[in-house]
Amino acid sequence: MKTLSVIGAGNLGAQIARAAVAAGLSVVIANSRGPESLAELVSELGPAARAADPADAATAGDLVVLCTPLNSYPDLPAAQLEGKVLVDATNYYPELFGPIPEFDSRSMSSSEFLQSRLPGSVVIKALNNLGAADLTTDGQPAGSPGRRALAVAGDDPDAKARVVALVDALGFDVIDAGPLSEGWRFQRDQPAYGIRLDADQMRAALSDAKR
Ligand SMILES: NC(=O)c1ccc[n+]([C@@H]2O[C@H](COP(=O)([O-])OP(=O)(O)OC[C@H]3O[C@@H](n4cnc5c(N)ncnc54)[C@H](OP(=O)(O)O)[C@@H]3O)[C@@H](O)[C@H]2O)c1
Repeated sequence: MKTLSVIGAGNLGAQIARAAVAAGLSVVIANSRGPESLAELVSELGPAARAADPADAATAGDLVVLCTPLNSYPDLPAAQLEGKVLVDATNYYPELFGPIPEFDSRSMSSSEFLQSRLPGSVVIKALNNLGAADLTTDGQPAGSPGRRALAVAGDDPDAKARVVALVDALGFDVIDAGPLSEGWRFQRDQPAYGIRLDADQMRAALSDAKR
């Protein structure tokens, strides 16, 4: 993978972009207000990064990471995301970003909901269960003792393998939680969400999840 596109350039998107540039990737990053509004961030990221609008970013990326509020889904560039692997780093925070009445969070994971709304894309859930700040402080080379582990869920094995390789390149071990329907195991309020765990601890936390 050479080019990582990041849609959403706030706390999480900017941090993923920083970690990706540090890992040697080219980054295309987009927000809702247009590339001009990202001049300062792109200047900080350096020549490996450029700003784009969401449609351009969706087209450019070998992988595309979604770092927007989940309720932005109707505005995403579905045509340009057709056939793309979309890494869903979103979480459902109705109290912060507003409720999504059509999403029943008790019957499906938020990534299954996103997949249902973007049927032409291959949604893989990852990079949602750590705080944004940790991306640039907790990453370590593969094989480091006690390396922090994150989780991944998805239905397409090849797409999932590509996302595992991305998360590894960003500095984290990756534990496979299973299909997208198991993604709830590392959503908010679960033991695998938001705290530093190594690979064994992440496996145990995923197993301890309760609905
Ligand atoms: N912050 C964390 O620690 C963290 C950790 C894990 C997961 N997450 C998840 O990541 C997502 C973003 O969180 P955040 O804290 O980074 O929020 P944030 O700082 O408010 O950033 C949201 C970003 O999404 C962009 N955006 C909104 N609608 C868009 C659209 N239709 N097209 C393109 N870009 C759009 C915004 O662009 P404008 O500013 O131009 O509107 C902004 O750049 C949420 O789903 C959150 O649950 C966050």
